Amino acid sequence: MSELLNNIPDKTEDKNTTSLKFKKDLISYLGDKYKDKVCVEIGTSKGYTTRILSSLFRKVITCEISEELVNFAKDVNKDRNNIEFIMMDVYQGGAAKWDFVKEDVDVVFIDCDHKADHVLFDINNAMKLCKPNEEMLIIFDDYGLNNMWKGVKEAVDETCNSPNFNIVKEIGQKEGWSYRDNMTLRASEGVICTYTNKEIKKEKKFWRFVDDRLYEVGTTYDLGFPKDDASYIPDEYLEKEVFTVCRSCLGIGDWGVISSMPRLLKEKYPNCVVQIPSEKLLKRLLEPFAAEWLMSWKNPYKTMEYIFRNNPYVDAFVDSVSDEIFHDHYRIYNPEKLEIPLVEQMLDFWQFTPEEYEDSSPELYFTDEEKEIGDAIIEDRAPNGFGTFLLSNRFDKNRDTEFIEKALDKYKIPYFYWVSNPSLLSLFDVDTVFDMRNVSVRVQMYLKTKAEVLIGNMSGADIMFPRYTKVYMAPRGHSFKENIVRGNLVTKIEDI
Ligand SMILES: C[S@@+](CC[C@H](N)C(=O)[O-])C[C@H]1O[C@@H](n2cnc3c(N)ncnc32)[C@H](O)[C@@H]1O
Repeated sequence: MSELLNNIPDKTEDKNTTSLKFKKDLISYLGDKYKDKVCVEIGTSKGYTTRILSSLFRKVITCEISEELVNFAKDVNKDRNNIEFIMMDVYQGGAAKWDFVKEDVDVVFIDCDHKADHVLFDINNAMKLCKPNEEMLIIFDDYGLNNMWKGVKEAVDETCNSPNFNIVKEIGQKEGWSYRDNMTLRASEGVICTYTNKEIKKEKKFWRFVDDRLYEVGTTYDLGFPKDDASYIPDEYLEKEVFTVCRSCLGIGDWGVISSMPRLLKEKYPNCVVQIPSEKLLKRLLEPFAAEWLMSWKNPYKTMEYIFRNNPYVDAFVDSVSDEIFHDHYRIYNPEKLEIPLVEQMLDFWQFTPEEYEDSSPELYFTDEEKEIGDAIIEDRAPNGFGTFLLSNRFDKNRDTEFIEKALDKYKIPYFYWVSNPSLLSLFDVDTVFDMRNVSVRVQMYLKTKAEVLIGNMSGADIMFPRYTKVYMAPRGHSFKENIVRGNLVTKIEDI
């Protein structure tokens, strides 16, 4: 086997191929296990890794856009007889194009265009090759490439949100390895991932917040209590009538979806006290878990303030709670109908009847100053009506464009916009009249309550508004599950 590596350049000599260490790691990971199986390589280049793959598999199908490179690769591999070279643009013509694969595939090696949206396209197509109820390997080169744009790493890491897809091995050179000036790996050169289309549930940690401390109390597939074995809030707690409303996470949408809870508590218990953990308390409870929210917010512990500021049903933001805090892990879910709004699941735990939480859609209350600023902007930029347009950093061109275009087509009005990257605006025919980044988050929220329509990709930033206006959100791969809310929310393209 090692003689196959003779005359093959290292990445230091040809930046397009994998390093020799990557190839050796592949050989030792795959061993003899795949000798009767088929591998698909996306991005042949000069065929150097193809050569190694051809010795590990019964057959390799490899795709390349450049005729010159296909010919070069054929020459490099002229002594190999189990490689099928396909010259094609793998991104042209949509998913159907991958039907060049006619046999069962066990491994896909993705090493083509390294922009995240193209890698996601490759991943998506690779997954479609997985046999029903089986597991396959998806291998990536240039995971650790230090590119300025979103690349392989972002695409792979995003896909790892699915319990069906996991990184199982880092291969090739390690983080910090430099193979050229300004080319230093920011993570391992490559990764081997497993993907299965079997239904898998991710285990979650069940937490308790007691006396201002967080305790992990085991893992579970579904947070909360199933309807057929429901647990309820203790009667003594209800009798005291001092209620702390809390989530175990820090995203704005996460808190937004439970924003009607203070009012609903006050309607049932008119003399009760409703309190929200302060920024200080949330930091104490959740700091070890805050990394994911710190990427989007400088201070995610303040998120609850954006949602509950000026709410007349909130009595206090508190720095300490001496009792247990019953947060979103305490809920009663219906295994048959997981898409019941979280606030309703939580209020089931709080012994509410369905009639008592009928009006559960999120709600917001603004100060006079916030309203004045917002009204002045509306008067100045779009006195005859407007929509808002959102492309968050989770916007995916391939997945979301059609939905968003269709919604924009329906509402030909001026838009106030928020986009994670200004260049994205050129993708859409949209009349933008105001960049919402120029005003505070709370004023942005006020503007959304006054808009005729909200259009964008799926984001917590727009989830709090279906009480006030029509919200169109291009869905991501998975559904909203319990983060759904009641009201005017459209998430299916056929409903536009
Ligand atoms: C990083 S190189 C592949 C290296 C190769 N797998 C190896 O290890 O030696 C990426 C290759 O993808 C090819 N490529 C880029 N865009 C493509 C497309 N749309 N369709 C097919 N091949 C493409 C490029 O021409 C390039 O040769």
